[in-house]
Amino acid sequence: MVARVVPVEPFDLVVFGATGDLARRKLIPALYHRLHDGQMPPDARIRGAASSEHSTENYRNIVLEALNEFVGPDALDKDCVDRFLTMIDYHRVDAMSESGWASLLPYKDDGSGRPRVFYLSVAPRFFEPVVTRMSEVGLTEGEPRIVVEKPLGRDLASAHKLNQFLGSKFEERQIYRIDHYLGKETVQNLMALRFANNLFEPLWNAGHVDHVQITVAESVGVEGRGAYYDGIGAMRDMVQNHMLQLLCLIAMEPPANFEPNAVRDEKLKVLRALAPITDADDMVRGQYAAGKGNPSYQEEVDNPTSHTETFVALKTHVSNWRWADVPFYLRTGKRLRARVSEISVTFKAVPHSIFPTAKNGKAGHNVLAIRLQPDEGIRLTMTIKDPGPGGMRLAPAELDMTFADRLQAAKLRMPDAYERLVMDVVRGDQTLFMRGDEVEAAWAWVDPIIAAWEERAEYPPTYDPGSAGPEDALMLMHRDGRRWREIG
Ligand code: BG6
Repeated sequence: MVARVVPVEPFDLVVFGATGDLARRKLIPALYHRLHDGQMPPDARIRGAASSEHSTENYRNIVLEALNEFVGPDALDKDCVDRFLTMIDYHRVDAMSESGWASLLPYKDDGSGRPRVFYLSVAPRFFEPVVTRMSEVGLTEGEPRIVVEKPLGRDLASAHKLNQFLGSKFEERQIYRIDHYLGKETVQNLMALRFANNLFEPLWNAGHVDHVQITVAESVGVEGRGAYYDGIGAMRDMVQNHMLQLLCLIAMEPPANFEPNAVRDEKLKVLRALAPITDADDMVRGQYAAGKGNPSYQEEVDNPTSHTETFVALKTHVSNWRWADVPFYLRTGKRLRARVSEISVTFKAVPHSIFPTAKNGKAGHNVLAIRLQPDEGIRLTMTIKDPGPGGMRLAPAELDMTFADRLQAAKLRMPDAYERLVMDVVRGDQTLFMRGDEVEAAWAWVDPIIAAWEERAEYPPTYDPGSAGPEDALMLMHRDGRRWREIG
């Protein structure tokens, strides 16, 4: 059970692309968990829609398989599964023709005020055709909510065009742009840590912070997603969205309240204050080589001349009063040593040390490390006296605020990001969704970096699988007399 479940009102949900990977891996399990935990009412209606021909019975089997594969045994109970399946039906619709669209007429506005959600779990090239068909059959009338997910464009121009198109059919309040990192429990906890405690905020500025690191490391490669990934790369896949959103939450000013636009206004200001990266040494990329029994990236995507980066390391600044001259180091990559997502804030050393230097020279810097995955939690490195007799020696020690202990004690399960986000759409709460101007501001910062790489037309340097990325990334830090935190 997840703590304190507040049920949502009955709703209608149409999932376009209902047989795809995202629907099977994430959406269906998320909806099931919400029913199981008592948050989703049994009279919600879920309709799967996709271009392939399936009977409802057939589709329910697909759903059942997805549940068996992606829902843990603790939550799988037959009674709940049966109830879940009866809430779901399936209709074939073809985004490129009129075929099947009449079957969605029951999902038109009936004046009851029941939330109607249309989830576009489809490739971006289908956004326009699906929304156009929706509008032709009247589904865009009333107050429907539409959910889209990245890639939201591949540069500023295409993102702007997409925003304009969506804006021609919907009001901004109806558009839910998912960045699933914002649905992660620890990411929300970061906001609680900053804005519900008075401990850190007075220190959260250039006067006290030495630097910030954001790492999203993955141990897997592109895993069969080569067709999507090649030509996209880590910058568009991870930095433009997830990494910059994390940076925003670290760097933003406290909003006046926790209302969607108040939060998003502050994030937007951060994106607009990001200093352009001009020094080539501050924008490192890499591509994984073959090794440890795995093919190289180029072999994996079957493109021996691919220039696509699977690793990025950047150094940037937020040009405002709070963060003047504080470096923000970002790093993300595939096939690295371990799967770790972590944000760390390293505070400045004490201005004057009255103690002998610590054995490893590390003592003196407090580091607040916010771990998104695995082992979600927050750890604060303090400097303490090395225990025992024998003089006043100092050593770093970690204060562990791992949530797993609390969750375990209360027998709670860490909900997946999509569980939270889908229920937020039903509730009409856009706080954890990106506004169109945020997406564009992120592209505006990312575009020149990609353009600089493209202009040089060089292959990204390769790095060994299981490493911490290319040598250049280590140098990026060493030049500043700093080092990356361990991936592991
Ligand atoms: C997705 C990217 O948005 O995020 C993937 O497209 C990446 O390439 C994934 O693997 C990482 O998400 P998570 O939640 O596993 O850290």
